[in-house]
Parts: sequence; C-alpha cells; structure tokens
Amino acid sequence: MNAAYSRALRALALRLETLKIHGHDQLSVSCADWKEDMRSKLKKLKSATAQGGARAQGGATAQKRIRSQSGVNTNTKEKVASLPPAAPVKADLTLEDIRVEVADCQKCALAKTRTNTVFGVGDPKARLVFVGEGPGAEEDKQGEPFVGRAGKLLNDMITAMGLKRSDVYIANIVKCRPPGNRDPLPEESAQCMPYLLRQLKVIAPDYICSLGAVSARNLLETTEAIGKLRGRFHDFEGMELLATYHPSYLLRNPGAKPEAWKDLRLLMKKLGLKDPRKNNG
Ligand code: URA
Ligand code: SF4
Repeated sequence: MNAAYSRALRALALRLETLKIHGHDQLSVSCADWKEDMRSKLKKLKSATAQGGARAQGGATAQKRIRSQSGVNTNTKEKVASLPPAAPVKADLTLEDIRVEVADCQKCALAKTRTNTVFGVGDPKARLVFVGEGPGAEEDKQGEPFVGRAGKLLNDMITAMGLKRSDVYIANIVKCRPPGNRDPLPEESAQCMPYLLRQLKVIAPDYICSLGAVSARNLLETTEAIGKLRGRFHDFEGMELLATYHPSYLLRNPGAKPEAWKDLRLLMKKLGLKDPRKNNG
C-alpha cells in the first residue's frame, strides 16, 4: 500500500476517533474492520480503474475518490448529519472515560491472560508522551506502565532530561500483557491502537517519544528498522514524534545509551530544557 493512502487511512481513523470523543458513539465501528473495508474498496477501485483505462491523476485525486466511494466523506459534518440521532455529546471526554472502557475490554486475545489492564499514567495535559510497547510482568501485576526494570531506566532518562515522571504521560501500544513478553501481534496492536489514539487526542501533547521498534512502527505505520527511524522527528497528526530505543534494549545494549541520550537531547531542545550535564563544570 502506498504511503499517501496509508496516511489518508490514518487521518480518517483519527477523525473517527475524534467523532467518538465528541460523543458520536454510533460511529464506533472497529477501527480494524473499517480499515479492512477501506482496503478492499481501494482494491476494487484500483481494478476498476485498470479495466476502464482511466488513470488516477496523482495520489490526491485517488484519495478523494477513495473517500467518496467508501462513503466516508472528509466533510464529517455532512456525514454526521445523515446519521441516526447522536448519542449524548461528551465533548469533555476524559482519560478516565477511556480508562473505564479499557478496563472491560475483550477486543483481543490478550484479555484472557492479563491480570490488569495497563492504561497509562502521568499528567493528562503533558507536553510530552512516552509510548512503549506493552506491559511486562510487573506492569501486569501493578496495572501501571514502566514500573519494572525498564521502568527504572525510563525514570532515569526522564530525570536526566530535567523532568519528573509526573510531568510527562506514559502509555503503551497495547494495554494488556503479551504472554512471555512477546511482541504484540499485528491484530492485537490494531485492536488496541484506537485507545492510544484517543488518549493522544485528549492529552494533545506537542511531542511523542516512541520507545523501541514496536512503538515506532505501529505509530508511523512502517516496517523500517528502529536504527533508521530514531534520531529525528516525524510528523504524527500535527504532533512531533521522536523515535528512540526502548529502555529494555538499552539494558541489554548499554553501548547504545549515548545514541539514546542524543535523541533525548533533541526533545529537550524542543521543550526548552537545559542540558544539566553541560553546566556541570
Ligand atoms: N515495556 C514496555 O514497553 N512497556 C511497559 O509498560 C513496560 C515495559
Ligand atoms: Fe483490549 Fe487492548 Fe487489552 Fe486487547 S490489549 S484486550 S484490545 S485493552
């Protein structure tokens, strides 16, 4: 799938989440199902175009057609107006509302093996959100992200930036522990990501720091190596996303710590934070 189409899909998925945040719960189709539907419509569109000999003139035109053929108009007002009466409007949706939903979630197989859901922690108005991969054993036990060994290192990283854990927000791609600390499966991430997208919409941070390959790849919808993704800012729906190494990786490969510190310094510069190590002597 080309990058422009992928971006269009994600923008539409975010729009859908925004509508939900504003109380249009009747739009709560599964994000994954909806994406699948969009994909199959694109396929049909492509083959129809090929057969008819009519060539789409560039990505933008094709995307417009995809939207109109899928019935998902970019003009969301029009779409909402044609829907059944709206559910009570919850323009003031909070993280707590999303947390309650997550606590009962059974959308993927990870629900069966979890002890606790691990929603997220920190300042609901944070300018910076760290996004990890998924809970480990300790997080599953306590219901809080990054409280095990990797969490201790993340705390040190946050402190080294001149911040406190309570100044930032910390969440994961999946809210339930993948057994044996395996990577979340694509379908598990796909089912869970809408919660994270809604969290990000509510918090509206300026910066996101993705920790590790699983986080960066899911957020940026790429299969690129973390070594290629890290160290620079990527656009993520109007927020700036910096990818860096996962603290667990840094525990196993301490030689990569200077590179991770370089990444964090990029964030500090953006946030107007002084590098404490520079003023020490
Ligand atoms: N690793 C993660 O990615 N997230 C956690 O919450 C803990 C460890
Ligand atoms: Fe639901 Fe996410 Fe847990 Fe799966 S991982 S059951 S989608 S909260």
